[in-house]
Amino acid sequence: MTPEEISLGASENLLRTYFSLGLAIPNSTTLTDEGYRACLGEFEHPICNFAAGLHLDPWSAKQLASLAASRKAFNVYAIPGDSPEHLQELLHRCDFRISYRLVQMVAEPIGRHSGPMVVRATDSESRLQIAQFMTEQFFSRQTEAFRTRVATATADATELELYSLLSYGRTTGGVMLCPGEKVIGIYNLCVASASRGLGLGKELTAWALSEAFKQQKVVTLQCDSHLQSWYEDLGFHATGMIEVYTLSKPGRGDIMSGT
Ligand SMILES: CC(C)(COP(=O)(O)OP(=O)(O)OC[C@H]1O[C@@H](n2cnc3c(N)ncnc32)[C@H](O)[C@@H]1OP(=O)(O)O)[C@@H](O)C(=O)NCCC(=O)NCCS
Repeated sequence: MTPEEISLGASENLLRTYFSLGLAIPNSTTLTDEGYRACLGEFEHPICNFAAGLHLDPWSAKQLASLAASRKAFNVYAIPGDSPEHLQELLHRCDFRISYRLVQMVAEPIGRHSGPMVVRATDSESRLQIAQFMTEQFFSRQTEAFRTRVATATADATELELYSLLSYGRTTGGVMLCPGEKVIGIYNLCVASASRGLGLGKELTAWALSEAFKQQKVVTLQCDSHLQSWYEDLGFHATGMIEVYTLSKPGRGDIMSGT
């Protein structure tokens, strides 16, 4: 694969994952426009209210802005492979502002691993258990109700594989894999707060790289810039940025329903 194909494969993997999770929230639907693809859900959170796969022109950018204004929460993901080149300018003109950025990273798989035990969750009960573990690590400051919604959606998105890292019979880490045709995506990689700094995160990442090696696939992930060097030490390199936009004036959330 060329570097461009790898980056596009990584972006495709991200879209599959975000739409799988969004559509796993009950009553979510997709909307496909010429300039973008959106997930729209009743739960007022960007997990199921977002647009991605952008190929905007001034008209579709305006359409997207009015869609975003009709929702209480709405993210727009600009990712490598989107167009046109002046996407940022188009979005800015429609009052979108960058709310945060993630680094898109990829790595060639590595064929050796002799680390801790990693077990795939195969039934709905074990999927929910590891999904709950993940939401506790990522959303400890959010409400229990929010964590339950996200954990249930994660468990229900069965095309995404969930794995537990076990140490002395206890779950100390977790990871979600999105298996694509040529690219495997790593998501929700986490270690229990009490077990961090012991090398478990590195072991879990190395395990994912060895799984990808067995399938001869490239590995991708998205991370906050402060973790970039940590992943670089594990063999990853940056291939682009994911820019997350929201409207500078928050959506009213009442345009569509007319209430
Ligand atoms: C990121 C994470 C998986 C690392 O797991 P871990 O088991 O602590 O990692 P390791 O023990 O293998 O490596 C530790 C090293 O990672 C780096 N590191 C870990 N978390 C970091 C952070 N938040 N910021 C910067 N560096 C970090 C440090 O260099 C640390 O070195 P130190 O032990 O000398 O401090 C863990 O911190 C975690 O679960 N964080 C919350 C969820 C998360 O952000 N996941 C990443 C999604 S992309």
